[in-house]
Amino acid sequence: MQFQWYPGHMTKAKRAMQEDLKLIDVIIELVDSRVPYSSKNPDIDQMANGKSRILLMNKCDLADTNVTDEWIKYYEDKGYFVVRVNSKSGSGVKAVHEVIQKACRDKIERDRRRGILNRPIRAMIVGIPNVGKSTFINSFAGKACTKTGNKPGVTRGKQWIRLNKKVELLDTPGILWPKFEDQKVGLNLAFIGSIKDELYNIYELSLLLIKFLVEEYPDVIAEFYGIENSTDEVKLIESIAERRGYLKSGAQYDFDKVAKCLIADFRQGKLGKISLERPC
Ligand code: G4P
Repeated sequence: MQFQWYPGHMTKAKRAMQEDLKLIDVIIELVDSRVPYSSKNPDIDQMANGKSRILLMNKCDLADTNVTDEWIKYYEDKGYFVVRVNSKSGSGVKAVHEVIQKACRDKIERDRRRGILNRPIRAMIVGIPNVGKSTFINSFAGKACTKTGNKPGVTRGKQWIRLNKKVELLDTPGILWPKFEDQKVGLNLAFIGSIKDELYNIYELSLLLIKFLVEEYPDVIAEFYGIENSTDEVKLIESIAERRGYLKSGAQYDFDKVAKCLIADFRQGKLGKISLERPC
């Protein structure tokens, strides 16, 4: 399966983000915990240019906890402050406040030495589409926040959300298109639903997902669908079709219906906590 990449979107988004990054002290980057490498846009690393970096392992409720632990260590070793988050339930979100203070300790100290006290830290949320930026911002900012409005000369018309005395958040998240020149990255992003369904063949995608699951999580499909286990992808699809009664006229198996169902069940976490990649 081949995926296409759209440099046009990328260039425009990058330019806008570069401007916004000039205004902020700390970058809060969200990745999907099931694919912490594939959902991380490497351009942000180049643009960060010495800013403090916080990495949020979002959707941790959907990923394999042990593998997420490995990723946290991997990124901490690279100098990130890392927090495991489930933005949907709010779990881990509060901890981000404390981590922001930690990540900006040097800047706060620098300000203090120059006699600047209590200047709020400015933060920006970034990430590829669908990674959970809006959900996180809603959970993080909550109802208590107030929009601070324009500050001429300082923010150049940007809107900021004042979270508390210590932190202000740029109210529009930085969206970067995923980079999927690498086919493995493209495939992982298709599995989690970050690439439009029209761009690939759903049946082929389901076969690749089953192949991965048979190798890495050998019991999940048989257990969830209540079917006999097998290492044969097509056999598993046929068993699901039979079990669920997904048949077309002439008693043929409805492979597309099974494929859609399997992919949706995986994306919603019904098959269990599954990670699609490990740090190497
Ligand atoms: P974006 O701004 O980065 O594009 O992402 P957005 O917040 O719109 O979130 C994309 C989808 O991911 C939403 O689901 C959202 O509910 C879900 N999501 C965000 N954070 C988490 C998380 O930590 N865990 C889980 N399980 N899901 C999360 P949706 O299907 O588009 O909408 P809905 O299911 O909320 O109706």
